[in-house]
Amino acid sequence: MEKPILKPKYFLTTPIYYVNARPHVGHTYTTIVADTIARYKRMRGYDVVMLTGTDEHGQKVERSAKAAGVAPQQFADTIAAQYQRLWEELDLHVDRFVRTTELRHERAVHRLVGQAQSHTPGCIYKGHYEGQYCVFDELYVDDPAPNAPCPDCGRPTERIREENYFFRLSAFQDRLLEHYEKHPQFIQPETRRNEVIAFVRGGLRDLSISRTTLKWGIPWPEDDRHVIYVWYDALTSYMTGIGYGDDELQWEHYWPADLHLIGKEILRFHAVYWPAFLMAADEPPPKTIFAHGWWLFEQEKMSKSRGNIQLPQPIARVLGIDALRYFLLREMVFGQDGNFSREALVNRYNSDLANGLGNFASRTLAMIERYFGGEIPTPLGEEKISNRDITFKGFVEGDLAEIPDFYESYQFSRALERIWALIAEVDKYLVIQHPWSLAESEVTAENERLQTILWTAAEALRIVTVLAHPVIPHATEKIWQQLGQNGKLADQQLDQLQWGQLRPGTRIGKTEAIFPRVDKDEAVERIETMEQEMRQPSAAKTVATTASAAQGPSRISIEDFAKVDMRVGQVKSAERVAGADKLLKILVDVGDEVRQVVAGIAEVYKPEDIVGRKVIVVVNLQPRKLRGVESNGMIVAASVPPDGKPVLAGFLEDVPVGSRLK
Ligand code: MSP
Repeated sequence: MEKPILKPKYFLTTPIYYVNARPHVGHTYTTIVADTIARYKRMRGYDVVMLTGTDEHGQKVERSAKAAGVAPQQFADTIAAQYQRLWEELDLHVDRFVRTTELRHERAVHRLVGQAQSHTPGCIYKGHYEGQYCVFDELYVDDPAPNAPCPDCGRPTERIREENYFFRLSAFQDRLLEHYEKHPQFIQPETRRNEVIAFVRGGLRDLSISRTTLKWGIPWPEDDRHVIYVWYDALTSYMTGIGYGDDELQWEHYWPADLHLIGKEILRFHAVYWPAFLMAADEPPPKTIFAHGWWLFEQEKMSKSRGNIQLPQPIARVLGIDALRYFLLREMVFGQDGNFSREALVNRYNSDLANGLGNFASRTLAMIERYFGGEIPTPLGEEKISNRDITFKGFVEGDLAEIPDFYESYQFSRALERIWALIAEVDKYLVIQHPWSLAESEVTAENERLQTILWTAAEALRIVTVLAHPVIPHATEKIWQQLGQNGKLADQQLDQLQWGQLRPGTRIGKTEAIFPRVDKDEAVERIETMEQEMRQPSAAKTVATTASAAQGPSRISIEDFAKVDMRVGQVKSAERVAGADKLLKILVDVGDEVRQVVAGIAEVYKPEDIVGRKVIVVVNLQPRKLRGVESNGMIVAASVPPDGKPVLAGFLEDVPVGSRLK
């Protein structure tokens, strides 16, 4: 039997985003970069896992939830769902989404703390913190002056004294420096690496890693007066998502992470704390941490508290997902700050996408359609190829060698510059060769030239399409189909791409404009209007929603219904949830796995009465915690009037476990 070829793994992450505000272009940027690298790595034959998620604990979330009049978990659920929906809308391929309020995550954090304590005794100890504290940013502030302003938000700080668990970071200085020295790739770009080294050389102080003043967090193992302070909790999410403490095989396979992508403001946590936490637990640190710059809006960092954010959806809806991706990756030199402006966005769209790539594709394909009936012509043999064809071929071959290296070293704007230089070169080639006038000629030799020129242009288009795919996957997939190429472009392997692979005689597909030109003022205005509507639902919309609610329950489409995945399950075990009269914790077999579900049926059903019973389970609900117990699905029951007594739904016939309800 042939052995399956194992692909090398590539595990990359974005930060897990705080749920105290909705996602904006800044967050979207990191996730788009991650998706681009993931697509590139897949085209290089890697088994890629991309992880993102939401950071849901801490005082800010507690505070935002209070302001919204809801429980912190409900608040977190809403924002986490916004993130998930956004990544779906933007077609960003997320392999693992970790929420820090999931039970599996709590288990992972506890395990990491335990592992550090047993592998490096004394690395975690109990002590007291006394000093200034910023309630808003949940930060201990170095400045000892009473009322000293918070270095982050400028608000006055308060004096506090509390018992904390500490992590002995001071003991890791030499090991960290040695690690930076031995692994020059660990912190990128270079300038950031130097900053971190200087900081660590300056000496490290122990870190407080628990709080007693905070309630919304993971309880300290065996001491629940404390909760684990944010960074120990948040960073561990990178391990949770690949099965740490849960799925040994998966964990062993994917760890260490190949790349943590982050914004520069959280570099210290990733490049100093994180490797030290891991060293203490005897786990290898990630291979690379890349800290990128900020998107500035009107010269300031885009952030909700400054009110200067741009939402990604209006851009994607007006100009397309690829336009958003292209702009973000082309306009910002990866690692440096960049300025966001809607005018610049629309200008780039028109010049690079509509006039550049879009025009190149439609012009080339239209000529093949017109002059060769939609069949890619045959280029002539070497002897009839002109110097220009040869120079052009050389140009493309140079790009083929260099552009993947730009991706490899995260130089996206340079990769795109080069691809667009190639597009400009084809344009020049076509202008000089003027195939349109050759086509009118009766002379056979000229017609033959026409074959070579159009084959050359189409081959360059094919190559551009493959090279630009990681950044603009949707447009390039369409051009790939229009060029009549087999299979999916995403499955093409970059290292097999060569000049000359375009097969003459291939029938091209139906052509259509990929990036239609837009009127600049109109597009900017549409983006702005949509942005405003999304930020505050307009009066008209609110009225409309109220009105439709008044007409009774609204109808949903069959597609909406199909989104609910209901399965036949069988109860394996059930027990009461301590302190909750109504709740049962149930383990239910849903066919391909056993799920833990919490159901509000304890007043009607005794645990022993339902073991073995077949029930209906909604299996694709977001996990949530009820009374601290994670529920991964919902058991369907009728709510019987007058008091809503639950009665479990079931079948008269015997139905196999795992069957889907439709
Ligand atoms: N929850 C922490 C990260 C924990 S990681 C274990 C956090 N969350 S955050 O919601 O504030 O997201 C910060 C990240 O979002 C940045 O590191 C960056 O990746 C992205 N960005 C947020 N605003 C940004 C800009 N204005 N520009 C570029 N990226 C930005 O920090």
